[in-house]
Amino acid sequence: MIVIGYESSCDETGVALVCSERGLLAHALHSQVAMHSEYGGVVPELASRDHIQRILPLTNTVLKEARLSLNDVQAVAYTAGPGLAGALLVGASVARSIAWALGLPAIPVHHLEGHLLSPRLADPAPEFPFVALLVSGGHTQLMRVDVVGQYEMLGETLDDAAGEAFDKSAKLMGLGYPGGPALSRLAQEGDSTVYSLPRPMLHSGDLDFSFSGLKTAVLTQMKKLESAAGEGVVTHQQKADLAAATEAAIVDVLAAKAIRAMDQTGMKRLVVAGGVGANRRLREQLHKAMHRRGGQVFFPPLALCTDNGAMIAYAASQRIDAGLADLTVGDHAFTVRP
Ligand code: KG4
Ligand code: ZN
Repeated sequence: MIVIGYESSCDETGVALVCSERGLLAHALHSQVAMHSEYGGVVPELASRDHIQRILPLTNTVLKEARLSLNDVQAVAYTAGPGLAGALLVGASVARSIAWALGLPAIPVHHLEGHLLSPRLADPAPEFPFVALLVSGGHTQLMRVDVVGQYEMLGETLDDAAGEAFDKSAKLMGLGYPGGPALSRLAQEGDSTVYSLPRPMLHSGDLDFSFSGLKTAVLTQMKKLESAAGEGVVTHQQKADLAAATEAAIVDVLAAKAIRAMDQTGMKRLVVAGGVGANRRLREQLHKAMHRRGGQVFFPPLALCTDNGAMIAYAASQRIDAGLADLTVGDHAFTVRP
């Protein structure tokens, strides 16, 4: 069965074709990062307008790449939420229109389920069951995943998400948008031991997270550096050291809680998904920690860590295979949940 999937929940337009037997056939992505960067963050109205411009050309791109036509497709999947309402509506409207025109089922997909299952697009793919660390711009969660559709929340952030902590700290350091990758790049030039930052809730004994205090600590440190600089400026090296300290603090907490979740569940496989899963320090730290305890850690292919259409098409195809998708064709209520 071939599924076409649409992702348009935020600032990436993603379209992909997934075959239940052959896996990912093609995927295409357009990032709006350059457009939003001059505003220092995502402007929802501009995001929606850009999705409208890109979504059909991207559809043609993936069909061409896979040497298929829409007539070869058997289901149309789209991100139903969470996300920006206007942006979600673009993907949902296009997907549902195509489904309606071709007499195909339209399958709404939860954005986080897309992220959660995306490491299974990698080779080797993790088998069920596993613990998933979901770290995106809006969510930080530890989940127990037994099979497709059976997810148990083990812990989550009580305030900011890990991606948000990266983005907000980057903003405080004047690193622009998107902050996570920028902060992480700068951190490579820094020494993480120069400034000491808190590891919030590291010893809380549970699997929850909190990152808002860290952001305040970064702000306090930046202010100290600025006032010490007086008329001068905070140097590149000082910023690099602070970036390294921030990254280390976030990664230490994520890694420690993920390992605690492995201990609590007795599982051997850890899966990391969502944009922060692209972070090199997190990848290295988790590889080492899981190797030490005789387990394995899986990440999505780098290109599929941040938002993309492949994870949406794949999650829909997995739900179809598991008998969890509503395949009736027709006039269902419009499913968008911002
Ligand atoms: O999953 P995603 O693309 O979008 C959401 O669903 O939120 O995640 C985006 C988040 C942003 O906060 C971004 O700064 C962060 O992932 N991110 C990173 C890196 N690449 C993306 N954070 C740290 N290091 C990275 N290399
Ligand atoms: Zn996402």
